[in-house]
Amino acid sequence: MKILISAASRHGSTSEMAEAIADALAREGIEADVRRPEEVASVAAYDGVVLGSGVYAGRWLGPVKQLIERESAALATRPVWLFSSGPLGDPLKPEQDPEDVALLVKQIHPVEHRTFAGKIDKRQLGIAEKAIFAVVRAPEGDFRPWPAIAEWASEIAATMRARAGQVAAV
Ligand SMILES: Cc1cc2nc3c(=O)[nH]c(=O)nc-3n(C[C@H](O)[C@H](O)[C@H](O)COP(=O)(O)O)c2cc1C
Repeated sequence: MKILISAASRHGSTSEMAEAIADALAREGIEADVRRPEEVASVAAYDGVVLGSGVYAGRWLGPVKQLIERESAALATRPVWLFSSGPLGDPLKPEQDPEDVALLVKQIHPVEHRTFAGKIDKRQLGIAEKAIFAVVRAPEGDFRPWPAIAEWASEIAATMRARAGQVAAV
């Protein structure tokens, strides 16, 4: 059983979440490849796929949306999980899901979509991003919930095992 994890990330924090999901799956005995969306030519070799993105201005980043377009037929025939990484602060803001996730959910019917808190390090931001950051007054910091991310990966592992059991029983 093999899972692909592919996340679009502008400043690296969502990529680190993809790695954490892979580590948690490995602890459950499930092999997972982590690949940048641009590197994924095909998902055909995988039994399940986890796709994620950092959220910018309410939207997922282009590379993972392009991967979904490219591989929509293959994604439709395997279990897919989506995760967004974005909200910041305490309480976390924004509270609503990214705008384009509803469309992605309609398109690929994932098992689930989860939103996890993100990270902002002002030193990593470009000039335009710094300007937006100043206007929206988002709090700086690393809010990523590592235990919840690992827990989610365990749920993915459990679902994959259950599906494999069902297939074996047929
Ligand atoms: C310019 C800018 C715009 C952002 N817009 C949103 C947003 O609309 N919604 C959201 O939840 N997070 C937003 N964020 C927060 C990022 O999604 C968060 O920092 C995320 O962890 C970044 O992921 P990355 O490091 O993988 O690029 C924004 C961050 C920046 C710098």
